[in-house]
Amino acid sequence: MAAARLAAEDSVNHHYSANVGLLHLRQAIVDYTNAHSGVEVDLTQILVSNGAKQAIFQTFAALLDPGDEVLLPAPHWVTYPAGIELAGGVPVSVPTRSEDGFKVTPADLTKHLTPNTKLIVFVSPSNPTGAVYSADEARAIGEWAKEHDIWVMADEIYQRLVYGSDDVAASIAGVTPDLDKVILINGVAKSFAMTGWRVGWMIGPADIVAAAARYQSHATGNVNNVAQIAAVEAISGPQDTVVAMREAFDKRRQTMLSMLADAPGIDCVEPAGAFYVFPDVAGVLNDTYPSSERLAEGLLEEAGVAVVPGDSFGATGFIRLSYALSDTDLERGVSRMVSMFGRL
Ligand SMILES: Cc1ncc(COP(=O)(O)O)c(C=O)c1O
Repeated sequence: MAAARLAAEDSVNHHYSANVGLLHLRQAIVDYTNAHSGVEVDLTQILVSNGAKQAIFQTFAALLDPGDEVLLPAPHWVTYPAGIELAGGVPVSVPTRSEDGFKVTPADLTKHLTPNTKLIVFVSPSNPTGAVYSADEARAIGEWAKEHDIWVMADEIYQRLVYGSDDVAASIAGVTPDLDKVILINGVAKSFAMTGWRVGWMIGPADIVAAAARYQSHATGNVNNVAQIAAVEAISGPQDTVVAMREAFDKRRQTMLSMLADAPGIDCVEPAGAFYVFPDVAGVLNDTYPSSERLAEGLLEEAGVAVVPGDSFGATGFIRLSYALSDTDLERGVSRMVSMFGRL
């Protein structure tokens, strides 16, 4: 905040700046990516955008030609199919199973491979499932993409919100040797709880990044300078708040899981990252609430709890719960939800 306040008072920041991002933010991103994704990049490979969303959208716009197919492991975040379609591409859902922890394997991908397959979207930790791929699992997918000459877009926005022994999720680019056709997506929204500052970035081969930058220069131009300076402070300043937040999230995750364990008809895979739990609610669906969509409406109306139906993520019979809220609200909300499930 202090860095942002000072930046707001400095008139140099009241003007347009480089479309690709402030030099010192891009320098900080070089170091951050090396430290957390294990990848060496240079300044020509980075484009700072208005949140990871714009970075994702521009990645699709730069890479896809009409009719190109994009493999999308499901359940998946809602923005990916929309961004693919807006770029003229075709989203191809690759279903995963809760028994496999909602993770896709090379064999699953091969089943959906066609001559039009151009890109795979790889997200770890995942929204909505919280699934985290191990280094070996990520490498297997990276090797598969190399073998079939397919691009990978790796969304690493939740990479530091992991709850095992590691403090960062394995980066597919960091663990797959010579994975050249890869775009990394990252930003300050999740690990630094800076959703409203709207700073994200893409990292990739210089020519693809240059194409995305041309798009951005006409669409929006540079990201707000004050927000970029706040992002420099977040990613290169003291990191103790990230650690403290991860610990708080882990505690809330465990509270939510143990409370849901008592709910009849609810089946939950333990998420290892992000801040979501994605329970299977098929066991509580009935004539009044025949779908997860209706159940979500019922939870809002009867228990005052907001959840997202799994259908939005390509998974019927599930709901997504977020534990990015205070301990008290979390306990109150989950206990109301569990008692409503008990009545169904
Ligand atoms: C997987 C994933 N990527 C990206 C984003 C968006 O990031 P940003 O707020 O930086 O646009 C989200 C937000 O929900 C997300 O879940």
